[in-house]
Amino acid sequence: MKNVLVTGGAGFIGSNFVRYLLRAEPDVRVINLDALTYAGSPENLKGLPDESRHIFVNGNIIDRALVEGIFRHHQIDTVVHFAAESHVDRSILGPEQFVQTNIVGTFTLLDVARQIWLNEGGFAPEGARFHHVSTDEVYGSLKPGEPAFSESTPYAPRSPYAASKASSDHLARAYATTYGLPVTITNCSNNYGPYQFPEKLIPLTILNAVRGKPLPIYGDGKQVRDWLYVEDHCEAIYRVLLNGKSGETYNVGGNNQPTNLEVVRQICRILDEVQPDSEFFPHDQLIQYVADRPGHDRRYDMNIEKIGSELGWEPRQSLETGLRLTIKWYLENPGWVEAISSRSDYQDWLEKNYAARGGQR
Ligand code: NAD
Ligand code: DAU
Repeated sequence: MKNVLVTGGAGFIGSNFVRYLLRAEPDVRVINLDALTYAGSPENLKGLPDESRHIFVNGNIIDRALVEGIFRHHQIDTVVHFAAESHVDRSILGPEQFVQTNIVGTFTLLDVARQIWLNEGGFAPEGARFHHVSTDEVYGSLKPGEPAFSESTPYAPRSPYAASKASSDHLARAYATTYGLPVTITNCSNNYGPYQFPEKLIPLTILNAVRGKPLPIYGDGKQVRDWLYVEDHCEAIYRVLLNGKSGETYNVGGNNQPTNLEVVRQICRILDEVQPDSEFFPHDQLIQYVADRPGHDRRYDMNIEKIGSELGWEPRQSLETGLRLTIKWYLENPGWVEAISSRSDYQDWLEKNYAARGGQR
């Protein structure tokens, strides 16, 4: 691993991974390709461990000429592909961009890698690797009593987001099987931690609670998710890059399955403890039930035995310790919060989403 193309490296997990990799690999150069959509921001890349080994390219993964140019110019030997439209609610209100970025964009990256690494026998050494970052949502929704998702669980995506990610996973696997492209895939559960865009449940709850705004719970709040602290996800991807087998998929998760209501209450409890003088104490008084997400998946649960036994990875943070770190980060970074959440496109989205949920802002 010398010249690593990270796509979506100005987003939440991508920017955390860029930091992680620059720290973990002192000789690696990161070429960060990101279109800076609403979800990506240079704010997420301030104060990197070593700026001189980070090259930012503002561009779209669908732009084949640009991607080819980057592969050739920077002699890319490793791809870590995060770039995506990532928010389920947005995929319900506007699915087209999900098809473009998540499916066509992933195809473009895979096909350029095939052309340059395999057909032209370019500069990729033996160890070339295309790592595709995916989600547990491709497996669908678990009924009561059904076992956790394993790597062999059949795909059953239910939202436009999940369907677009499932499609990209199939393409990645097909390029491995058909052309022998050195592909690995990780399917991970819900991430949380520093730099997460505030549309997602955990940062939304933290930021609304400290401002005394309603904490929206979709439906009955008894949907179950598995939560993983973002740095643990970065470490899992890094281990797969180093020791994962080409052609293999690894499930990644946090070994916890709280309901959404429990997560929101847990955040409120920690805020009550760290801000006992808040005028919004107790913070769980702000909880507001709103209309459910259409097609809302009821339960996810991840079997992470494979990555544990083959690569020795397990999550370091529990949900409690990870939430404490996350709350601390959001409270200590008001400049980032202001820069990200004051954008008018985000405010417009909030209006639209809350209108769809029948809740108040
Ligand atoms: P994010 O929305 O925070 O960031 C996505 C990044 O991709 C942004 O910087 C955006 O500007 C960039 N991007 C979007 N479209 C692009 C395009 N066409 N060309 C170039 N760049 C583009 O997403 P995230 O939460 O960091 O998720 C990253 C990846 O991890 C995604 O593939 C997602 O499916 C996957 N994933 C996320 C989670 C989670 O809980 N957040 C869990 C499992 C898997
Ligand atoms: O499971 C992995 C996935 O996790 C990733 O692939 C996605 O990119 C990521 O966005 C995330 O998807 P979710 O839909 O699970 O995340 P979100 O934070 O939007 O919602 C988490 C749960 O909380 C979900 O059941 C919906 C619910 N929810 C969400 C919001 C924003 C609420 O009840 N209220 C809210 O305001």
